[in-house]
Amino acid sequence: MANYEKPDHWTVKAKSEGYPARSVYKLKEADEKFSLVKAGQAVRILDLGAAPGSWSLYVLRKLALRFQNGGAFLAAADLAPLSTEYGKGLFESEHFFFVQGDITNPGVRSALLDQGPYDLVMSDAAPATTGNRSVDVMRSRELAETAADYALSSLRPGGNFIVKIFQGSDAHLLLKKIRECFSAGKSFKPAACRSESFETYYIGLGKKREDRFTNANTTRAQGL
Ligand SMILES: C[S@@+](CC[C@H](N)C(=O)[O-])C[C@H]1O[C@@H](n2cnc3c(N)ncnc32)[C@H](O)[C@@H]1O
Repeated sequence: MANYEKPDHWTVKAKSEGYPARSVYKLKEADEKFSLVKAGQAVRILDLGAAPGSWSLYVLRKLALRFQNGGAFLAAADLAPLSTEYGKGLFESEHFFFVQGDITNPGVRSALLDQGPYDLVMSDAAPATTGNRSVDVMRSRELAETAADYALSSLRPGGNFIVKIFQGSDAHLLLKKIRECFSAGKSFKPAACRSESFETYYIGLGKKREDRFTNANTTRAQGL
């Protein structure tokens, strides 16, 4: 049985570096490998399943210079609130927009899509686990497909996507879809994932211009 109570190396490191959760090192490793948080004049990023806020803080800190120059923006959403203790005022920035709510809710979706289009959509959203692996895998896949729908609806051509998914029988179908809609699709398990965890990340690099996703918002996001 995994001991989730005992702080491990990554948790201790996260707290010492001012992040509320160890998950920041999963994004950092993916960013270093795939250049997800790109340099650019007007980068816009969407963070789904953002609480307690480590991924958002990573982005806010990495892009701080560009925020000062007025050229960057981060939108985020979660069922839970963000950690104000670690935010140290960054979550109050005019370059940051947060919705507390369910990303599958149409009102939340509309509020987030209104802030797009985006250059990067990232989702670390995960269901509360039940202990029943097939239930947890199914709920994770639904969240990952919701995130993919956001990505295909709101990414600019050339934009990138990262999404967490619990590995299970049908997970590969999402990777297949990502490979169709992006120039490259990767499966990536960062070193900071717990060894016993069955989570992994799918990454889409360079959203293709001609892609269509099976919902009405696609044409709207593409300005057609
Ligand atoms: C692993 S945590 C995310 C950690 C975050 N990336 C960070 O670095 O602090 C997963 C999050 O997904 C959120 N979540 C799960 N289902 C959701 C949903 N339907 N809508 C919004 N957030 C959801 C949970 O509330 C939880 O905060």
